[in-house]
Order: sequence, then structure tokens, then C-alpha cells
Amino acid sequence: MISNIVTMGGVKSLKDIDVTGKRVLIRVDFNVPMDAQFNISDDSRIRAALPTINYCIDHNACSITLVSHLGRPKGGYDERYTLRHIQKRLERLLQKKVEFIDDFEASKEEIASCSLERVFLLENIRFYAGEKKNDPEFCKQLAELCDVYVNDAFGTSHRKDASTYGIADFVETKVAGFLMMREIEAFTKALEKPIRPIALVVGGSKISSKITLLTSVMQKIDKLLIGGAMSNTFLQALGYEMKASLVEVDYVDVAKKVLEEAKANNVKVYLPVDVVITDSIENPIDVRVTPVQDVLEGFHAVDIGPATLKLFSEAIELSNTIIWNGPMGIYEISQFSKGTYKLATVIAESYAYSIVGGGDTADAVERAGEKEKFSFISTGGGASLELLEGKVLPGFEKLDRN
Ligand code: 3PG
Repeated sequence: MISNIVTMGGVKSLKDIDVTGKRVLIRVDFNVPMDAQFNISDDSRIRAALPTINYCIDHNACSITLVSHLGRPKGGYDERYTLRHIQKRLERLLQKKVEFIDDFEASKEEIASCSLERVFLLENIRFYAGEKKNDPEFCKQLAELCDVYVNDAFGTSHRKDASTYGIADFVETKVAGFLMMREIEAFTKALEKPIRPIALVVGGSKISSKITLLTSVMQKIDKLLIGGAMSNTFLQALGYEMKASLVEVDYVDVAKKVLEEAKANNVKVYLPVDVVITDSIENPIDVRVTPVQDVLEGFHAVDIGPATLKLFSEAIELSNTIIWNGPMGIYEISQFSKGTYKLATVIAESYAYSIVGGGDTADAVERAGEKEKFSFISTGGGASLELLEGKVLPGFEKLDRN
């Protein structure tokens, strides 16, 4: 049976078409993190879109219209989420003037004209109600801006929005950008053509958000390493008392089932043997390492301990493909970040093909200073999770096929 990921890889890419003299609309994902003063703290997603934009410039597209969202604005314009925050960085990276369009509906004719080689950046597409509703009339209006639609917003490709999905019904030529193709190729290599043994490392706070992943990949992996707060629920399922730690009580039985399924599929499961515990997450005064059977009354497990790191390291060193999704602890707080950062180094130093789901894990790898040593870091958190779960991402669904 052909898997969904292979089907998605069969879409046409920018390389398969001619953009010369064409008006190209590129859906990018410029949803980047910013501080309170709107300084961009990580521009990886903007950089990741450059090959597609530059290709269109180099191949003489007559105009390039960039469409993105930023954040989750509710109901129209919101200064915090204007894409004007992105414009300067983009100009610097492209080394080209980028014209900002406040309201594409008002500037439609100018954008749709094809007289000069211009790059437009539209205001946050989520300021328009039609975007999240995937409103057909709105999709049509967007489509009128271009001859060719390129989806390169991997990070948003799990959304059925107008600019990631519905627009494709109204444009004759619709293809994937280079980032979309790179992401699919990286995950195909890890999931469809892995060099075994293959280890899945999962973390983060909740089993509930990873349960589909855990059940869907069980037949594809050899080892499952579980850390982060979600491991508390597994440990509780095995009879350990996790005291004040975050445990999803409703998922204790689910955790038991996952462990049974792993056994049935011959998947080796690695759980923490020791944890970092604290009397308070917000104001930690008493922080110590303890075996999982000795978590103190009133204490919270917030990171994996050194013995666990050793155990996980051995499992990783003997793997040839590693997929990592979710931190090992509350890595945003420096006292609880060691497990995640040290694990990042262990995976980075391994000889395995290493792939990181986006979101928090990508951020942690960046903060650990190990980004360059990973084989691939996805730009999509939610999107890569859905990809690993075996779903077809809507952003690929309506594109032309080879
Ligand atoms: C992301 O940051 O995960 C993407 O840009 C998608 O954003 P969304 O979750 O608001 O749709």
C-alpha cells in the first residue's frame, strides 16, 4: 500500500513548471517568534522560504506576492500581528525591496498587473475573516492575484485555510515550493526508507496530544524513548507515585495500552529511571534528583535525571535513525533544561539520521546550540506531528501531481 507521505511527495514542485513572465503567489509561513518589542527572535522560517522566493526572482517571474499569517488574531487588524514586523528582515535577507500591501483587496489591480519585477508582502492574511473560514469567495479573490500558486508554508500545511488550501481550486497551476518538498523528503527518509534501528523520542507535557502519533508509528519503529511530563503518566501506569507532578489521570489506561502495543510490536520502550524534582515550578527553592520510585510528597518532576540521560544516550547511540518530538522537561526554565539540552547534544553527536519535529523541540535544539549538527529540523510543529501520524496534510492535497 502506498503511504500518505509517499502520495504527498508526488506533487509537482516549482522545478516542474516555468514561472517566467508569470504572476506568482507564494503562501509562506512567516509566523515567527518575536519579543515584546517585536524583534524577531528566530527567523528560521523566513530563511527557509528564501530558496523558493529567490528561484522565482531568478527565473523572471513578473511579480511575486507573498502571503502569510502571523499569530492568531481574532477579528481584524491587530498591531501585534502585523506583517510589517517582518518586512525589514525579509528585505535584508532577500537584498531586495519588498512592497508592503496593507489591503490587497484595495490594491488588487496593482498587484495583479504584470509590468515590473516586483515583490509584494501582503498584510497578515488572518486579518480577513475569509481566511480561516476557507471562504470560496475569498479564495477566488486571492487567486485573481496570480497565474501560479506556490504553497511553501509547510508549518501551516495542516490547516484547511483559504491561502493554504481553498485557493488551489481557483488557480490553474498550483505547485509545492522547495521547503515543502524538503520537508516531505526528510520525513520520507525517516519513515519510509529508514536505516534501522529507528528510535522515536517523544516528550512534552501531554500524552493526549501525542497519542495518535504513538499508536500510528508503532509498526514502523524499533525503540520508543519517552520523557517530559508525559512520561509521568506512563510511570504512574507502571505503579510509581508521581506526587504533585503533572499526570493525565484520564490517560493512565491509555498509557498502559501503548506499553502493551509496544510489546506486541517488539518495540523497546525506555522510560525515565530518575527525574529532577522541585518543590515549586515558579519559585524553585528545593531542586534535586531522585529515582522515579522516590518522588517526594508535594514535589513536581520537571526534567529527566542523569541516569535516564545515560540510558537514553545508549539507546540513541545504537540507533541509525532518530525522530525527536517534544522536550524532556520544562526547558524554558534553566534549572530544568539540562535533560533536554544534553539529549540534544547526544543526538547531534550520534551518527544517525536525526530529524526534529518543529515547534518546542526545534526551539530547544536551537537554544542548545546544536542546530547545525542535526540532519533535518522541521519548520512545522503541528504539521510535522500530523505528518508523523500518517495524515495527508491539506496543503499538499490540491496541488498538481506528476
Ligand atoms: C505554527 O506556528 O505552528 C504554524 O504557523 C501554524 O500556526 P497555527 O497553529 O496558528 O495555525
